[in-house]
Amino acid sequence: MGNSSARIIFHDLPPPRQSMLDEVLAGLARPQKEIAPKFFYDARGCGLFEAICDLAEYYPTRTELAIMRLHAHAMAGLLGPDCALIEIGCGNSEKTRLLLDALRPAVFVAIDIAREQLEASCSALAQSLPGMAIVALRADFAQPVALPLDELQHSGRRILYFPGSTIGNFTPAEARAFLARWAPQLGAGGGALIGVDLKKDHALLNAAYNDARGVTAEFNLNVLRHLNRALGADFDPAAFRHHAFYNAELGRIEMHLVSLRPQRVTIGGHVFELRAGETIHTENSCKYGRAEFEDLGRAAGFEPVQCWTDDRGLFSVHYFTLPQ
Ligand code: AVJ
Repeated sequence: MGNSSARIIFHDLPPPRQSMLDEVLAGLARPQKEIAPKFFYDARGCGLFEAICDLAEYYPTRTELAIMRLHAHAMAGLLGPDCALIEIGCGNSEKTRLLLDALRPAVFVAIDIAREQLEASCSALAQSLPGMAIVALRADFAQPVALPLDELQHSGRRILYFPGSTIGNFTPAEARAFLARWAPQLGAGGGALIGVDLKKDHALLNAAYNDARGVTAEFNLNVLRHLNRALGADFDPAAFRHHAFYNAELGRIEMHLVSLRPQRVTIGGHVFELRAGETIHTENSCKYGRAEFEDLGRAAGFEPVQCWTDDRGLFSVHYFTLPQ
């Protein structure tokens, strides 16, 4: 990165190719075939997600940004000085910049699986916040991630920042386990600031994942191109169709790829058969009520402190702390 305006330390913990292959094979061997959403984010997938964030139908990004514009200073006041801010899934860095500007943490740790994206956003943040220590950690945050403790020696409380409703990719049980796993690494008095998409009118939810321009469809189908390139698979993206719907019973948007005909796919010497109409489940995007998410935080050992929402009640940012 070679940037002189800030100190950026880069740690690369890429998932080994074999573990990616194993994970994809295991997902496709299940009765309901699945591919984890982290595989959306190759360079093209990151670009498509950025394009989604600008869509008229996709309200979460601009709503969360508006919440941050209004409340970043209040949040920084609660988080306090000298903290280590640890961001998970640091896609587009606009919200983070608002928080960093207000907070001026002792150190900023960014964790993401997408290498280019991580480097680009850390360099951009370094430009606008000269002198801030930045640690970029390329890792799969769905797996346990060990914090670079050397780099955190001179900072105070550790705050997990998990914006964008990325936590919605986990089921509620997975989200609880994820937070419970982070609690000991954050330590007594640590905190978590989490962006969470709220339950709302189903038509609005369905529209956000079925945009008129088909960008979300392209984003969904892109996972197949990514696997073709990364694992030498032979998916034909033209033989699949995007399908996204709100599952009201489970409180989540589900994205699937529907096989348009009976077909065979080969990955790493393994052959998978798909029936016409059979789907590959590619994403859950879980939605919560405010109290429902506060309860989830409590179940993971955190105490709800404050929750900010927009005036239409579309999106929320929750602040939790760990008992001293
Ligand atoms: C990045 C996981 C928050 O769930 O809304 C956007 C991903 N998928 N459109 C979401 C996504 C389809 C997004 N997250």
